[in-house]
Amino acid sequence: MSDFIEMAAVGHIYADGQAGLNGCSLAIRRGSRNALLGANGSGKTTLLLHLNGLLRPSDGVVRIDGTPLDYRRAGLAALRRRVGLVFQNPDDQLFSASVVEDVSFGPVNLGLDAATVRARVAAALAAVGMDGEAERPVHHLSFGQKKRVCIAGVLAMQPELLLLDEPTAGLDAAMQADLLGLLGTLSARGLTVVLSTHDVDLAYRWADDIHLLAAGRCIASFAAERLAQHGAALATAGQPLPAVVEVHRALVARGLLAEAPAPRCHEQLLAALAAIDNKDCEETPMRNDSRSPARRSAA
Ligand SMILES: Nc1ncnc2c1ncn2[C@@H]1O[C@H](COP(=O)(O)OP(=O)(O)OP(=O)(O)O)[C@@H](O)[C@H]1O
Ligand SMILES: [Mg+2]
Repeated sequence: MSDFIEMAAVGHIYADGQAGLNGCSLAIRRGSRNALLGANGSGKTTLLLHLNGLLRPSDGVVRIDGTPLDYRRAGLAALRRRVGLVFQNPDDQLFSASVVEDVSFGPVNLGLDAATVRARVAAALAAVGMDGEAERPVHHLSFGQKKRVCIAGVLAMQPELLLLDEPTAGLDAAMQADLLGLLGTLSARGLTVVLSTHDVDLAYRWADDIHLLAAGRCIASFAAERLAQHGAALATAGQPLPAVVEVHRALVARGLLAEAPAPRCHEQLLAALAAIDNKDCEETPMRNDSRSPARRSAA
């Protein structure tokens, strides 16, 4: 995968003198799933606002396809067709009376004909599972439904890069799983996705690439499957190891599981444990007591 959008030594000083970013460099590969992982105040939101040109660097440069962003009006309009941003708080993003009006806003602004707008809006609402709610007033929706409408509004623009600021915050477990499923589907269709989070378990489970942020700087970028080798950088960024990595290590240390492959989520860990059970059954086919070594030692 080639680099799609990159930051080189980007600094950002807010009007009150506060540093939002400080010499931040990172590269996002085309078609990849990315997690910006960092503590509160580490610069995640500031970074996302730079990737779609809502903020302009005080220092350094942001490039898309190798070309520095063009901050003139037409340049920004072109950029925002390619790069869509979903804000953390839906109330910062939704402003029309009904769902369908809100999702139509972007495509109408692009000057598309009515039939194309209708088709895009229908497809975007279907993608987020909100096609039955098109006529509802936005202010009657639940938080999770509003979030979906925000995502639909961005999808209707058919961006190449989707940025989401803490998309799972405030969603229940089922909604989080749905959302990650949707982002997985979009990414499988070729969309590049960048989300911010302070949830290391989520980043490890979902992302191809993790970018660790601390004090306005990207202190490490790595493939999620290599996360366990970056314990020191995680600690600097105030992040624990994912729970599944800790449990897997404890099981490896007790000789109950092999070191590789390391599971990325608890479902994979459970599958590895179930495989021990199955192996145990195959090795002792005539015994009624075919409990795994793990269970026997726990008994
Ligand atoms: N509008 C602003 N004016 C002044 N300082 C700001 C502004 N927005 C953010 N900052 C500062 O910039 C730094 C980075 O903030 P940012 O919101 O990007 O962090 P974050 O990683 O998104 O945090 P969180 O997890 O709390 O959302 C912080 O020190 C913050 O106080
Ligand atoms: Mg933020």
